[in-house]
Amino acid sequence: MKNSKRAIIIGASSGIGLELAKQLSAKGYELGLTGRRVELLKQIQQSLPSKSFTRAMDVAEADEARHILDELIKEMEDVDIIIINAGVSEKWGDWEKERYLIDINVTGFVAIANMAMHYFRERGQGQIVGISSVASQAGFGSVATYSASKAFISTYMQGLRQQSHGRNWDIAVTDVRPGFVESEMTAGRGKLFWMATTERACKQIVSAIEQRKSLVYITKRWRLIAWLFKTMPDTLFRRLKL
Ligand SMILES: NC(=O)c1ccc[n+]([C@@H]2O[C@H](COP(=O)([O-])OP(=O)(O)OC[C@H]3O[C@@H](n4cnc5c(N)ncnc54)[C@H](OP(=O)(O)O)[C@@H]3O)[C@@H](O)[C@H]2O)c1
Repeated sequence: MKNSKRAIIIGASSGIGLELAKQLSAKGYELGLTGRRVELLKQIQQSLPSKSFTRAMDVAEADEARHILDELIKEMEDVDIIIINAGVSEKWGDWEKERYLIDINVTGFVAIANMAMHYFRERGQGQIVGISSVASQAGFGSVATYSASKAFISTYMQGLRQQSHGRNWDIAVTDVRPGFVESEMTAGRGKLFWMATTERACKQIVSAIEQRKSLVYITKRWRLIAWLFKTMPDTLFRRLKL
């Protein structure tokens, strides 16, 4: 008989994914942890208070990633929540880098989310959590591909949510949109605007997960910035050097 919740974190080896693992483990969740740096995941596993499972997974290898997710779910026997956190950020300009970003942030995301949706549908209940970004709100020049990839994720999750709601499936879809959060992704960029510690950001993410929220900005005040970019006239937006 299962006595605790079980969650899989795709991309749990650093930053937001690692901190989510720490906080969920402290709450007694059993965890499945994935990432390319499997040795790092094994060290993290040792430090967590609850039971956990690890798997090497590169979401850029989408078919293989789906196979690994299937195996992990079987090993864990039952999973309540799948958190798709893996993602990369690259400056716009280099085609190979743009393609790589799309492989991870877009194709990799759909590969996992599609499988999660089918799994929860069959199971009768579940929750998909996707880490998008405030950058999903507009096309920012220096990171145009990244912004577009996050817009894709948020729109895709909205579609999954509508499907679930419209068909009375008990599957929650939580779209998490962080502003700036301390992590390997933001390391070396100095003090960024409204930068949150990983701990504070993940406390808010965990709370949103537990409330099965549809959408959350991290930290909460980033909702204001998101609104600003969403409503700004294009004639003004295109003048900004972002
Ligand atoms: N930090 C911010 O300010 C911020 C703001 C908005 C949104 N986000 C989003 O938050 C998510 C987490 O990023 P982070 O800031 O915590 O950065 P991070 O410390 O660089 O973490 C990225 C995580 O994604 C995993 N990952 C990357 N490429 C992968 C791949 N090909 N296959 C499997 N896993 C992969 C990494 O694991 P391995 O390297 O071990 O594979 C790592 O665990 C990303 O989706 C990012 O876009 C971050």
